[in-house]
Amino acid sequence: MQSSKMGDILTIQSLSKGFSRQVKNSAGEDIDEQYWVIHQLFLNVPRGKVIALIGGNGAGKTTLFNIISGFIMPDSGSILYKPDGKNLELSGMSPHLITRAGIGRMFQDNHIFREMSVLDNMLVADSAYLAERPFRSLLFRNKNRKEENCRLAKAMDIFENLFVVDNPFLEKRKQPAGNLSYGQQRLLGLARLFMRNYELLLLDEPTAGVNPEVIEQIKQLILNFIKNNQTVLLIEHNLEVVKDIADFCCYMENGRIALMGTPEDVIGNEEVQKSYMGL
Ligand SMILES: Nc1ncnc2c1ncn2[C@@H]1O[C@H](COP(=O)(O)OP(=O)(O)O)[C@@H](O)[C@H]1O
Ligand SMILES: [Mg+2]
Repeated sequence: MQSSKMGDILTIQSLSKGFSRQVKNSAGEDIDEQYWVIHQLFLNVPRGKVIALIGGNGAGKTTLFNIISGFIMPDSGSILYKPDGKNLELSGMSPHLITRAGIGRMFQDNHIFREMSVLDNMLVADSAYLAERPFRSLLFRNKNRKEENCRLAKAMDIFENLFVVDNPFLEKRKQPAGNLSYGQQRLLGLARLFMRNYELLLLDEPTAGVNPEVIEQIKQLILNFIKNNQTVLLIEHNLEVVKDIADFCCYMENGRIALMGTPEDVIGNEEVQKSYMGL
């Protein structure tokens, strides 16, 4: 791998996570069986790049994101996160501290608030910090109003600059987010991530189930993150998207990174073609 250690934002070493499941033994009795979902996984994530993660269903991709973002505790291993000038071990940190440390996430199912307006969905994306400290909200009312105005200006600025053409958000900003089309909801899920200056973004299948025009818009947004010097780790099944925007591609199999390289090399690899694409 070309990336020097200095240039990596994330260094994952020997990460493992096992779950147990009930199976029947030869006597027909229910017993607990341990199995590895992540197994001695090593991964270096170079700063400021798009790194695509590909692999079959059940390979452990979403679980890896759940561990990085603190929703699942690993059994062993280390996740060293190196934003500007800091060096943090993420393993054992709570999800909200990991978010505050600069790791943002878009979930497979989007997580937008359908009843809230499109604009409010943007505002709450940046208000988690205040919500964690309710007394501060009461004591510093005026300051909060100022912060609220800043947030509003920021959201409008993001909406204005998101897309030059076919921009649905300015016109629909006061409508419930549930009124947006499925693809537009996905775009909103991504737009929200611009509200905070995340260093690292974890995107779980952002293009799943959306039409080709929206896929183009999603690609633009991801490249905008990179222009802001952010790093994007992207779980993606659409290999054309991977070839178009990823700097590096990792093939995940049986809970570990089996291969990392350029998208062309990994997607063109004979073993990957056999086991993942069934060619
Ligand atoms: N909380 C959990 N408890 C038990 N098994 C889980 C849990 N989360 C994921 N798994 C299992 O881990 C495996 C990997 O799942 P996942 O990470 O979602 O794969 P991928 O995203 O690559 O399709 C699957 O077999 C899944 O059933
Ligand atoms: Mg998944």
